[in-house]
Amino acid sequence: MSSTADSTVKAFDADAIHAGNFALRIDHEKVGRETDALMARMSLAQKINEIRGRQPQPIDGLYYAGGDESVGIEPWKMVDGPRGARTGNATAFPVAIARAASFDVDLERRVGMAIGLEVAAKGGNVLLAPTLNLLRHPGWGRAQETYSEDPHHTGAMGAAFISGAQNHVLTSPKHFALNNLENTRFELSAEIDARSLHEVYLPHFKRCVVEARAASVMSAYNKVGGRHCGEHPELLDEILRGDWGFLGFVESDWFLGVRSTAPSLNAGLDIEMPTGFRFGDDELEEALASGEVSEEVIHRNARRSVYQKLAWQLSRDGVAGKARPDPAVVECEEHVALAREAAEKSIVLLKNAGEVLPLAPEAGVRVAVVGDLADSINLGDRGSSMVTSSSVTLPLQGIRAGAGAATVEYFASDADFSRLADFDVAVVVAGLTYRDEGEFIPMAQKEAEDGELARGGDRETLDLPPEQRDLIERAAAAAKLTVVVLQGGSAILVDDWIDRVDALLMAWYGGREGGHALARVLFGEVSPSGRLPVSIPREMDHLMPWDVTALSVEHGLLHGYRWLDHHGHEPAFPFGFGLGYTSFELANLQLVRADDGFRCRVDVCNTGPRGGATIVQLYVSCRDSKVFRVEKELKGFGRIDLEAGATATLEVDIRDEALCFYDADTRSWQLEDCRYLFHLGHSSLDLPLSAEWLQAGGEWGAA
Ligand code: BGC
Repeated sequence: MSSTADSTVKAFDADAIHAGNFALRIDHEKVGRETDALMARMSLAQKINEIRGRQPQPIDGLYYAGGDESVGIEPWKMVDGPRGARTGNATAFPVAIARAASFDVDLERRVGMAIGLEVAAKGGNVLLAPTLNLLRHPGWGRAQETYSEDPHHTGAMGAAFISGAQNHVLTSPKHFALNNLENTRFELSAEIDARSLHEVYLPHFKRCVVEARAASVMSAYNKVGGRHCGEHPELLDEILRGDWGFLGFVESDWFLGVRSTAPSLNAGLDIEMPTGFRFGDDELEEALASGEVSEEVIHRNARRSVYQKLAWQLSRDGVAGKARPDPAVVECEEHVALAREAAEKSIVLLKNAGEVLPLAPEAGVRVAVVGDLADSINLGDRGSSMVTSSSVTLPLQGIRAGAGAATVEYFASDADFSRLADFDVAVVVAGLTYRDEGEFIPMAQKEAEDGELARGGDRETLDLPPEQRDLIERAAAAAKLTVVVLQGGSAILVDDWIDRVDALLMAWYGGREGGHALARVLFGEVSPSGRLPVSIPREMDHLMPWDVTALSVEHGLLHGYRWLDHHGHEPAFPFGFGLGYTSFELANLQLVRADDGFRCRVDVCNTGPRGGATIVQLYVSCRDSKVFRVEKELKGFGRIDLEAGATATLEVDIRDEALCFYDADTRSWQLEDCRYLFHLGHSSLDLPLSAEWLQAGGEWGAA
């Protein structure tokens, strides 16, 4: 709904986002007592049963773990994943990075809630999502599953998803931690200093645990500092439980997520999934006999799982004290409409020369739709995040349905394009598929061997595949006007062909309603409002070195826009960038101290000819610091929807903690005496307003 004049919009309304999240209503004292009473009646064998999955393959999409009728404990029934329930048909939402482009935290809460409800309706009780690994490099094969290259943005979207989903089921944000290169994920070691770890790679996990109280966390396959994440005491114990107060359980990633018995159990890996390979009877017997693992540790780990089962009131018929939802909620009208809303809000308009868009759905207008992808189901990767829906609207179908009185004709990729000049415009759908990027799993390898060409994995280059690039060139050479619609899960280089096209839309993998959403944007039913959650560089060399065979990868404070800023490389399109069919102006920035932080208020006016939404972004720079600081970092954002001519005030809160640096020596956050610059604007490179505050001798003053 659009805001009217004089209204105030909160950038992140924590009360509304976290409303209904069952984890926030748990009576921990009572659950603790009940858990101890129950555990006292359990034998060692019964406890062991709680720390491992039941069988390697899912049953109807559900991975079972633990559960024992004789003591009245239900099993965990875990279901993937980040863009919908991966069991049978379900609502295929746009991939997470697409939803992230909406910068709409309330939308993400509603998507989380819908996916959680569908999982519960299918009998699941743990949703294996969201994927929270930072997009360190856009070539990561699983980029589409995560939200962003920015920790603040990832944390806000992830917390909203979790709180929505935890209305119905537990969630398991993954993969803890630093899982951001696919091809070598089982062996590679992420090397990182404490400051980069806490400031860049963990804040979003922390927020999801501390604020949204994720009930579970999935460990990662890779190593951090030479040690596999599934047996990493610093990550699983000191940080997750010690620093963040996590009360949930940690389950491993599948098959190769646990590499040892005693070190994993002792470090706090509570449940091995999908079954007991390292936590098998023989392995445990040996570890107990040798004294490497104590019964207390088995008790502790099993207790964490049982605790959550009691806390969430699991029963044969439901979760969180609710009856199992009617299966009719799966792909219900409301969820289908939500999938379309998410797809619509995710589309990013990158170029619109001569205002070629929106197209007029009028008699006499002739639209050529070009490219095989316009007529293909392209929902994203086919690894663990794959979702199938009973029906998918393809771009061509959506455009035909939304074209009104305009004429639409389709040209496959191998068609003769000489007739394109007879059309007013050519809409070319090009990009990537699951063959170019995605999770790299043994199944995919198997399919590849079977001749299916399923590959996925990381992208070595950010260029379009040559035949896709060729398609754009051939269409642009023949057409009067060319609009390119890109599908894909991350940044795609455009610099060497963008001058030959008139308009460019990034449409990601738009889910089951992607075709309708695209048509509504093309024909101006809605003004595009998505913003890039990943920088698009001009050249691959402008980003950090990228080696998809690396077994050791250095992580630091710089990547994405932080890297580009630092090295002085102007991107083709900056983080946070996106155009619309209307325009916005920001005015009257006020920045005042409010408890433990700042409150920023700014007037946002829709100065253009029609209604639409914009994303106001707030970045902070710290000057005169005693430690190295990156040029600027996103610390707040708000989405605001306004009628033409309307103004509203956006309110963004920034906690002091967000201004701190992490001091590795004292393992603490330091708010230092410094000059803090707050920049406000429309992308990481378009920041027209700013304010400065100074902290000196621990006292704040406006500069
Ligand atoms: C993936 C996880 C997924 C799990 C279960 C693993 O290969 O890394 O993200 O949840 O499989 O399907």
